[in-house]
Amino acid sequence: MSRLVVVSNRVADPRRVAAGGLAVALGDVLAASGGLWFGADAEVAEDGCSAASQLRTQQAGRVTLATVVLGRTDHDRYYRGYANGVLWPVFHYRLDLAQFDAAHLEGYRRVNRLFAQQLRPLLHPDDVVWVHDYHLIPLAADLRALGCHQRIGFFLHIPLPPPLILAALPAHDWLIRSLFAYDLVGLQSQADLSHLRRYLAVEARADLLSDNLFGAFNRVLRADAFPIGIDVAEFEAMTQAAPAQKTLAMLREQYAQRRLLVGVDRLDYSKGLPQRLRAMQALLERHPEARHSATLIQVAAPSREGVDAYGDIRRELEGLAGAINGDFGDLDWMPVRYLHRTMARNRVPGLYRASRVALVTPLRDGMNLVAKEFIAAQDPADPGVLVLSRFAGAAEQLTDALLVNPYDTEATAEAIRGALQMPLQERQVRHKRLLAEIRCHDVHWWRRTFLDTLTETRA
Ligand code: G6P
Repeated sequence: MSRLVVVSNRVADPRRVAAGGLAVALGDVLAASGGLWFGADAEVAEDGCSAASQLRTQQAGRVTLATVVLGRTDHDRYYRGYANGVLWPVFHYRLDLAQFDAAHLEGYRRVNRLFAQQLRPLLHPDDVVWVHDYHLIPLAADLRALGCHQRIGFFLHIPLPPPLILAALPAHDWLIRSLFAYDLVGLQSQADLSHLRRYLAVEARADLLSDNLFGAFNRVLRADAFPIGIDVAEFEAMTQAAPAQKTLAMLREQYAQRRLLVGVDRLDYSKGLPQRLRAMQALLERHPEARHSATLIQVAAPSREGVDAYGDIRRELEGLAGAINGDFGDLDWMPVRYLHRTMARNRVPGLYRASRVALVTPLRDGMNLVAKEFIAAQDPADPGVLVLSRFAGAAEQLTDALLVNPYDTEATAEAIRGALQMPLQERQVRHKRLLAEIRCHDVHWWRRTFLDTLTETRA
């Protein structure tokens, strides 16, 4: 059997508790098969240079971790400047937040070439290489230029925007052309796939050989939607384990008189956090009976604090949470509990299970695994309700959630009210269907389907 080589910017020891959807999913994938996980080291060399000698390897069970220590300048231009200052906002439809700078693009290209140079000697001829996310789009082209003939697949964890938004990106033609060095490109949703298809037809004048096969630049590219899932069985087990059960018991005692709403997100402008708080505010204004009876626990994990837009969103959110608590709170009740921290992953299922409603309302999101984890953590006999943005990739699959437009404050407030009041029988019916869906398309299905398609495509 071929060895699996996973490449992603962030690498985490699969035996430890990781934070963030991508690291958790890839940890699960590699823990199942063993293999090599290659990416950037968590440490950055302050002397500014990414020397070739700075490759670190470490054995983590059946998985070998190999990480490149980047110099400060390379790291800042590639990760902070281009990946998170340009690609992240543009791919989430936020051209207004993108900070285009030719030096950042150059840093992105240089780090991708450096990754290719460091990875090439570690590869065996029959390895299957699976590259992940927007940090590494040109990696296969760089590997091919160094003579690598292995099967190489790519998965984009974030959305792919419509053609006219993508076309605003300087060097978009270079970026998309580099996708043709892969044998297979995986996207999260049918919407993303339709955007790629239209971009390739209009901007790259590719031949649409079928719904999933595109001919251009003397290559044929296969692309398809593979919505990522979670390890449902593992999450259910984590819900029953002591740390989650302790959290559940504590919350039940503390909030015996209230219904809990929960939000767990990285503190990112794509997550729609201010819009969510405004919907809470509208709910409390329009429906006085919700006052004193409902509390939102919003966990917002610090993220990418070196990027300007992230400081702005933090200030906005803190101002809003303070204003809502000041206007509506009472001696014995605060409507919003805002926590700016990363919560231990093994306690999170307890928080989900204690909550009657989850608010997963991003303005745009590739998938959103919090939505799936909330479903997995519920008690089927008395489940909570998922309020989900129609702009999360997960909305294509989770059609039994209450789907909302997060830009529509009043309608979102009404949906939250509907969720708080939903009768038991309807909650059970919806939860049963949602659980069946996430079980059917779990992380193992995702891995299997992507890798089988990659093998077939090459054959
Ligand atoms: C998203 C991206 C991942 C990224 C994660 C955490 O889920 O798709 O690639 O790793 O956010 O962001 P960070 O910048 O901390 O790696």
